[in-house]
Amino acid sequence: MSQRITFTLAATDGRARTGTISTPRGEIRTPAFMPVGTAGTVKAMLPESVRATGADILLGNTYHLMLRPTAERIARLGGLHRFMNWERPILTDSGGFQVMSLASLRKMSEEGVTFSSHIDGSKHKLTPERSMEIQRLLGSDIVMAFDECPALPATEAEVAASMRLSMRWAQRSRDAFGDRPGHALFGIMQGGVTKDLRAESAEALNAIGFDGYAVGGLAVGEGQEAMFGVLDYAPGFLPEDRPRYLMGVGKPDDIVGAVERGIDMMDCVLPSRSGRTGQAWTRRGQVNIKNARHMDDPRPLDEHCSCPACRSYSRAYLHHVFRAGEMISGMLLTWHNLHYFQELMQGLREAIAAGRLAEFVRDFHALRAEGDI
Ligand code: GUN
Ligand code: ZN
Repeated sequence: MSQRITFTLAATDGRARTGTISTPRGEIRTPAFMPVGTAGTVKAMLPESVRATGADILLGNTYHLMLRPTAERIARLGGLHRFMNWERPILTDSGGFQVMSLASLRKMSEEGVTFSSHIDGSKHKLTPERSMEIQRLLGSDIVMAFDECPALPATEAEVAASMRLSMRWAQRSRDAFGDRPGHALFGIMQGGVTKDLRAESAEALNAIGFDGYAVGGLAVGEGQEAMFGVLDYAPGFLPEDRPRYLMGVGKPDDIVGAVERGIDMMDCVLPSRSGRTGQAWTRRGQVNIKNARHMDDPRPLDEHCSCPACRSYSRAYLHHVFRAGEMISGMLLTWHNLHYFQELMQGLREAIAAGRLAEFVRDFHALRAEGDI
């Protein structure tokens, strides 16, 4: 695998871009939505089914896999791709963000973070160097720099200090990653909702030099307006010829707004997680399949959707299997949701390529405003 990972822009429309990230494991069409396969599985889906929804790349997590079954065990078994039976590209998050939200007894220092496992309480340490080693053992195609995402609420001074620590960790991540043809390292911009801090962070990352750049520290409770406020300027601080990845986003209208502002990649647990709790996402917005109004409804969730849930099952059936606690409920709704998210991405890519993104976005909002009928 000596082929380098490259990013080719095919078209732009306003600030929005469409293109292709080429990797030895296959192409990633951008803007791309990455389903989340935290623990080596996109829950309730076979990998071939995830591919059938249109996904080019999955996200995996350093934090979960280092604790169970461990990166060393996955490496001995041939790496994460073979282990989980997904041979296409995998991006792995670096662990710090998950430590802050899941682990207990966390202790931060310049060196890194020590914490207790949320699974069995065992003690662990993550540093930029250890995170790079774990992501190498997993065989990740796109490796994320080790960063800290400050917990909110935080003062501007706290956000600044945290961002500067993340930039020192970004340099250590770059040094530890080295030169690995066929694998990419992405830096992560921090700085909260303060423009000067975002600019300082981007400048630090640009000086180090990465294969791609993530916008981190958003979708952490600041609200869509504040997030779009940052996205109105932050992508412009980053090199035009590298992919820009917005971490942890989002709802369909967040995705559309981010793509309009120049974002190329996103990931979110939303379509898979909400599929398991009876929430469906359609062109007409959110549908709660638990609602009794679906009990006698012979129509599909969305008559225009070609996914297995919509092609072969009624709302009445989807309601019934959810209420009965049957496993097929999570399977069908997850498949539908992932299919809808990927269809949205395909629509965005085609609209950008055709120079009619504004029209696409207008239609997107108009249909949602009509609601589920
Ligand atoms: N996932 C969502 N936001 C972030 C972030 O700021 N950093 C990392 N590493 N992962 C994230
Ligand atoms: Zn469907």
